[in-house]
Amino acid sequence: MKAFVMRAPGGLDCLEIIEHSDPGAPGPGEIRVAVHATSLNYHDLLVATGQFPAADGRVLMSDGAGVVEVVGSGVTEFKPGDYVVSCFFPQWQDGLPQAPVGSFAGVPGDGIDGFASSHAVRSAHAFTHAPRGWSHAEAATITTAALTAWRALVADGGLKAADVVLALGTGGVAIAALQIAKLMGAAVIITSSSDEKLERARALGADHVINYRQHADWGTRARDWTGGRGVDHVLEIGGPGTLAQSIEAVRVGGHISLIGVLTGLSGDVPTAQLMTKQARLQGLIVGSRRQQQEFVAALNLSDIRPVIDRSFTFEQLPDAVRHQERGAHFGKICVEW
Ligand SMILES: NC(=O)c1ccc[n+]([C@@H]2O[C@H](COP(=O)([O-])OP(=O)(O)OC[C@H]3O[C@@H](n4cnc5c(N)ncnc54)[C@H](OP(=O)(O)O)[C@@H]3O)[C@@H](O)[C@H]2O)c1
Repeated sequence: MKAFVMRAPGGLDCLEIIEHSDPGAPGPGEIRVAVHATSLNYHDLLVATGQFPAADGRVLMSDGAGVVEVVGSGVTEFKPGDYVVSCFFPQWQDGLPQAPVGSFAGVPGDGIDGFASSHAVRSAHAFTHAPRGWSHAEAATITTAALTAWRALVADGGLKAADVVLALGTGGVAIAALQIAKLMGAAVIITSSSDEKLERARALGADHVINYRQHADWGTRARDWTGGRGVDHVLEIGGPGTLAQSIEAVRVGGHISLIGVLTGLSGDVPTAQLMTKQARLQGLIVGSRRQQQEFVAALNLSDIRPVIDRSFTFEQLPDAVRHQERGAHFGKICVEW
């Protein structure tokens, strides 16, 4: 079978399509899946560009969606023909995150082989059903980005109707957050470097938009938009360069989900302001399989369809990574085969 792998010493020039050994028939508790799509995340970009070193020969990509071909003995949750989507943490089924969940050692496309291949044989518990009626590319968008948004807002955030959500940027996580928040009856503020992207966010239902390039005080402006009260939830995808404004934006007792590292890995935090706001600052990485199942159940009752900026062929996977690097995308970038 074909697979896209990372070759030593790593980096975009070291991505290679190889003829990989077929994974064969599923063992007890496993399923064999014909993989048809993946979606790109910043994490995949870090692996593909060599910034997160991967083992020589590592099959790329954390997200995978496809069709069940064969089920192993004891598998009752799936049957051949079912559309499935992979889990970011195959070993985290339910409950609180625990070590080694905090590391990427068990994450497909990083610590273990990913889904840039024509087939995969894994534990049935490494997948959930895909949302009904979704294409493989659409389903592939939920493994990492959309599940992170769901956990931040719903599973951990306790989002309620009429809450105000501030989501930074217009990438995969932020646009999924916008869609989930609108589904739940919340108001949404979106920031972006691009007025054109902000118009697109408005068309998707954003109630208020702010250009963070033009307005360095975007957090204060978000708080002002709420009448001075502050927002209930922030999806913080920038990290040290944006956190101070996110703390400006959040209401007393609000919730900041620390999700992204786009402005760096460490920096100053206005701790006294965070304390006086009595806000919850929560680091989180994606979610459990149970959370993905609950998310899929909610999607099956909704009209949401993910926003796919552009889709590439299998052979074009390095071009897809370059497209993400350029940062011109809105929503998700997918690869289909
Ligand atoms: N913790 C987790 O579980 C988890 C899961 C998924 C992703 N992440 C992280 O979250 C971040 C975003 O991931 P993604 O997949 O959504 O990436 P993405 O699709 O590549 O989107 C990145 C977006 O971030 C926006 N952005 C960049 N710099 C910004 C800044 N200084 N302030 C506000 N927005 C900024 C840009 O929006 P505009 O172009 O509109 O300006 C860009 O579109 C990454 O750091 C990623 O590693 C974490």
